[in-house]
Amino acid sequence: MHLERKTPFVYQITLTPESFAAFDRHIVRRLSSMLGQYRDQVAYAAMLSLGDAIVYEVYEIARPEVAGELMTGLSIVHPGKVGDEYFMTKGHFHAVLETAEIYYCLRGQGYMLMETPQGDWALEELLPGNVLYIPPYWSHRSINTGDEKLVTFFAYPGHAGHDYATIERFGFRKRVVARNGKPTVVDNPLWRPPEER
Ligand code: F6R
Ligand code: ZN
Repeated sequence: MHLERKTPFVYQITLTPESFAAFDRHIVRRLSSMLGQYRDQVAYAAMLSLGDAIVYEVYEIARPEVAGELMTGLSIVHPGKVGDEYFMTKGHFHAVLETAEIYYCLRGQGYMLMETPQGDWALEELLPGNVLYIPPYWSHRSINTGDEKLVTFFAYPGHAGHDYATIERFGFRKRVVARNGKPTVVDNPLWRPPEER
């Protein structure tokens, strides 16, 4: 456990089975925890009836959740689709909106969909070697558009916290879906501008 450590430490993200043992927490998000997040509810129910597939996993190094600390770990989004919509994370704002985050893509291919509380949106590609800097105020959701796992390393301030409720209610302004086999950005009809919420 890294929580109490007061001296520097090293851990590996070589993605060998042994390297995962370094992490303190392993969170597994399955299809059943994504209720209401995918546009195609019929496809969602049909897929769930066949089994509760893993959509993504998070491995974390535990550190005190206070300003001055950094939370680090790995996010792994599995390949797959619900209807024509790619597997993705729930997505969140940081509870302390004035906190940034870094993602470094190690494997796979996909996108980070981002949005501000005012409704500005952005999409950036996640490819091995890409470092994505997410400034304060931008909510974020990773999306796997490839056919292997999308693996990213992340680092964010210890006191950031997470607000999932806003995204659970309205989703992101955009969705990334497959059209003719290619990732395509479409509007999310359930989204409402802040002044209409
Ligand atoms: C932390 C962060 C990542 C995500 C992870 C899973 O602030 O952005 O560690 O937590 O990619 O996504 P969510 O948290 O949206 O389920
Ligand atoms: Zn975050």
